[in-house]
Amino acid sequence: MSKEWWKEAVVYQIYPQSFKDTNNDGIGDLNGIKEKLPYLKKLGIDVIWLNPIYQSPMVDNGYDISDYYAISPEFGTMSNFDALIFEAKKQGIKIILDLAVCATSSEHQWFLESKKSVDNPYSDYYIWRDAKPDGSEPNNWGSIFGGGSAWKWDENRKQYYLHLFATEMPDLNWANPKVRQEVYKNMRFWLDKGVAGFRLDSISLISKNQDFPDTPDVPEGEFGSPYFGASNGPHVHEYLQEMNREVLSQYDGLMTVGEATRTPVEKAVLYTDPVRKELNMIFQFDHMHVDYGEYGRYSDLRFKLSDLKKSMVQWQDKLHEHGWNSLYWNNHDQPRTVSRFGNDSEEFREKSAKMLATVLHFQQGTPFIFQGEEIGMTNANFNKIEEYRDLESHNMYQKFSDMGLPEEKVLTFLKYKSRDNARTPMQWDNTVNGGFSSYEPWISTNKNYSQINVASDLANSESIFYYYQKLIRLRKELPVMVDGEFTPVQMEDSAVFAYTRALNNEKLLIVGSFSDKRIRFELPTEFLDDPEIIMNNYDKAVQQNGVLYLRPYEAVVYRIK
Ligand code: NOJ
Repeated sequence: MSKEWWKEAVVYQIYPQSFKDTNNDGIGDLNGIKEKLPYLKKLGIDVIWLNPIYQSPMVDNGYDISDYYAISPEFGTMSNFDALIFEAKKQGIKIILDLAVCATSSEHQWFLESKKSVDNPYSDYYIWRDAKPDGSEPNNWGSIFGGGSAWKWDENRKQYYLHLFATEMPDLNWANPKVRQEVYKNMRFWLDKGVAGFRLDSISLISKNQDFPDTPDVPEGEFGSPYFGASNGPHVHEYLQEMNREVLSQYDGLMTVGEATRTPVEKAVLYTDPVRKELNMIFQFDHMHVDYGEYGRYSDLRFKLSDLKKSMVQWQDKLHEHGWNSLYWNNHDQPRTVSRFGNDSEEFREKSAKMLATVLHFQQGTPFIFQGEEIGMTNANFNKIEEYRDLESHNMYQKFSDMGLPEEKVLTFLKYKSRDNARTPMQWDNTVNGGFSSYEPWISTNKNYSQINVASDLANSESIFYYYQKLIRLRKELPVMVDGEFTPVQMEDSAVFAYTRALNNEKLLIVGSFSDKRIRFELPTEFLDDPEIIMNNYDKAVQQNGVLYLRPYEAVVYRIK
């Protein structure tokens, strides 16, 4: 196994509460994941990234952790976890865990202690600051979840604590070396159990500017983005290098991916350049910003392909030989890709899902598939606020309603962007609740489960599932997919995303149409001479005199040697 095995790997992300329920409480569990390992094996993935499974009051679906050494009872027991690791290993599947250490739950023992006084042993485990002379918050930062200030007053300590996310999620104070040692100890605990690495949650936010400056240009009485003083802060790289020295480099062949919100590509190199010994790769968000609107993420805007291309191409260029990319279209925080970047109508769902997969998997980097993406699951299509479960969606609904936006508009924002779009139960078959659970699920199953489900994809050799299976297989067969140089083709084309990958004498041309119409695409001259077609989401590409006549959402991959 090469030391950099993760460059050849494909990762499958599992959101445990929505994957498979085996004890019929309406919440997915570890045994459900174990039961579905053969399915994942069939798909061909190498690694599972598990969203948080630790003990948690579940204010933010497990990211608010109250005990890093225990499994949340909803998901099962520690022996269920051990059995899952054991079984996965038998099937050749590695597991990486979500390390959520930017904040803890306010019910974590450390916080309960920290709250008690300014001079207790846990006092500096969190970020406490005095009120301004007028009693107001230490600065103007607002919570990322939209619930008002990022500071909360504690009557007992007579100080404010910082929470970038929910009020019930106080931020850990990484400036305190004891906190860092607690994190490392916890990492060793899970690594010793056999996990293969971590996805490091909100890792670009762990080191705050210790002056806690106000975010500039924020109108009086409003809250500013905390990213200003919290992202890519002064000591983040020092902390990660320490983590690498003390933990990551002490184990063989781990994989790490840091969630690095608000990190431009120049800074991504700092996290992922191997000589710096920090992380293997990061999740960047530039391509997730292409449909942001005047209120940020929650909008009813559609993306422009030119923006998407520009963003993806830049990451391909700048990290080539200087770092490593993660490749993703969606995850538990983002809408479903087929609804956002493709077309989820009955006519085009399957074609556009395959096209998106093609355009992503042939780029350089490690692809991440979010559960259900491999069968083309769509956005939730909820019509009422009561159907949403996500705290952020509810906060945003409240915020926009308070701002006077019409309810219809606010619901459209959520329909497009709510995190719950990704969190509806996995659709296994056409039985009740899509085969996820026989009990009412914690969040409603998408109504389209009788048409869109795993069983029907497995029964159809032309399905999205088998298309993904082939993409994953090709990655193992074609080194050019892993190492090849990326060059964009016809950047000015506003409907087609095309690029080549080249390694030694081998070259691939990837062409993906984002249009629901038939359009022309002129093939580069090198590809005129009847090249081999290795992927196509239609029967046979239609090509004449150097022109490819693309059908709606067609994807074609050519290979020359
Ligand atoms: C990023 C996670 O992906 C998201 O789900 C979570 O709410 C925040 N971090 C806060 O932990």
